Amino acid sequence: MNLDWKNLPFGYQKTRYNVRCYYRDGKWGELEISSSETINIHMAATCLHYGQEAFEGLKAYRGKDGKVRLFRWKENAARMQNSSKGVLMAVVDDDLFYRTVVKAVELNKDFIPPYGEGASLYVRPMLIGTGAQVGVKPANEYLFMVFVSPVGPYFKEGFKPVDMMICRDADRAAPLGTGHIKVGGNYAASLASLKDAHDNGYASAIYLDAREKKYIDECGPANFFGIKGNTYVTPDSHSILPSVTNKSLIELAKDLGMNVERRPVPVEELKEFDEVGACGTAAVITPIKSIDDHTTGLKLHYCKDGNPGPISTKLYERLLAIQYGEEPDTHGWVDVFDF
Ligand code: PLP
Ligand code: COI
Repeated sequence: MNLDWKNLPFGYQKTRYNVRCYYRDGKWGELEISSSETINIHMAATCLHYGQEAFEGLKAYRGKDGKVRLFRWKENAARMQNSSKGVLMAVVDDDLFYRTVVKAVELNKDFIPPYGEGASLYVRPMLIGTGAQVGVKPANEYLFMVFVSPVGPYFKEGFKPVDMMICRDADRAAPLGTGHIKVGGNYAASLASLKDAHDNGYASAIYLDAREKKYIDECGPANFFGIKGNTYVTPDSHSILPSVTNKSLIELAKDLGMNVERRPVPVEELKEFDEVGACGTAAVITPIKSIDDHTTGLKLHYCKDGNPGPISTKLYERLLAIQYGEEPDTHGWVDVFDF
């Protein structure tokens, strides 16, 4: 495969196959391999009207030893199961999730970026209600499918500090809404405020808790973390997505002998952090170099020398070393394949 691996954007790139599985008559069918980029669904499908849709994002990496590593797929499977229950969709069990994901990666193995190019294969499982309903009710038919796309960094700067702004005129999720699961509606709710942030030169908006606007929720499609001395701090909130990357960084921070605090993080505390960053499968670790709050006039600067902070750098290097098979996977996070 001849792609400009080093300059891959985080975007859709056509590959060879996707893998599909249909839920009909109360059960999942066989895996189907497709080379079509389109799906044919009923115009009254619940995913089109009532948001019966969930997706996941995980990555496969071509390692230093030439092998392929899939990172923490079980966490994504569990999260998709929660998402399904949250919007009353048929549940994809671990076995079906795993078989579909691995098949999609293997069939497109030529699209896994070579080791050393700073890129990976993004895997996008998705589950949609395909059954027709006009009343507000769950569908009785579903499609689970997985496609893949070779990608570079989500924030085009890669591991370089970015500017972010606090968003106060929109919420991506309600306090008891669907922010804790990965359903499409959350992203629809964030489109306008993310566009506003981008139009104003920021890499992302930072959302606050919807009830009081007092605490940090998350950074667009990524969790927030702050480093204060020897402590890794990350928000605890029902309206943020439980990030697999964040969960992993928490373990890596502990490995470094750091304390970890998962608790509400007040906006005022931002000035006390030595380093702040966004983390996620797509974002990996994206250090934040400035945060503006246009309402309060707050303007904070981090990374004063222009470089990511030392702890963020250590966490980033350790995470990537595990994902690319450069260092031992002491937490048992990767499944290794020979294809
Ligand atoms: N928060 C949101 C809203 C996201 O969409 C994502 C991406 O999946 C994350 C956080 C990061 O989660 P993860 O590390 O599991 O990719
Ligand atoms: C991810 O990090 O996997 C995401 O889903 C982020 C985004 C592109 C929605």
